[in-house]
Amino acid sequence: MEKFPGKKNIAVFISGRGSNLRSLIKYSKTKKSLIRIVLVVSNNFNAKGLDYANKSKINNIFIKYSNKESFENRLLKLLKRNKVDLICLAGFMKILSKKFIKKFSKPILNIHPSLLPKYKGLNTHFRAVKNKEEYSGATVHIVSEKLDSGKIIIQEKVKILKSDTEKSLEKKVLKIEHIIYPKAIKKLLTNF
Ligand code: GRF
Repeated sequence: MEKFPGKKNIAVFISGRGSNLRSLIKYSKTKKSLIRIVLVVSNNFNAKGLDYANKSKINNIFIKYSNKESFENRLLKLLKRNKVDLICLAGFMKILSKKFIKKFSKPILNIHPSLLPKYKGLNTHFRAVKNKEEYSGATVHIVSEKLDSGKIIIQEKVKILKSDTEKSLEKKVLKIEHIIYPKAIKKLLTNF
């Protein structure tokens, strides 16, 4: 019998710190959660996030990235074997190919530390502070073939104070990320 009937199987892809993974694990353990995390994948052997997966006894794997095709083929096999319904990218530093997105054929979410479509790519906080933006924030969106450009599921903003630095802004935004990622998953899954 299924252990958590009705729950969707999630795979989380990470490359580093894993604080968003930690927030998703926390959400998955709540009574009403709609997900169970069946797989954590990292392309970085030393990713701290792998410790969170281990502590929670979640199936996790490091896959060495030597070339895109073999990396993605391995991923696709693993996703199939683990019956994954949804992928959540959480600080995953590789760009998935159009072919991979098509072959997986189910939703892929990403969390990005800016108010998309502003500040796609890297160093978002540095750029937002440098440009004296009034607000920044975080966005959860569907992954499409164009980087940081898919349909937005949830976005939340924070005010940038004159005293804010790249670091302090990162901290504020990260706090919001940990709240909106589970919210975005709920929103997506209840609209399925
Ligand atoms: C987060 O800021 C996320 O928005 C971005 O990468 C960072 C990952 O942080 N895509 P963590 O590994 O989840 O702590």
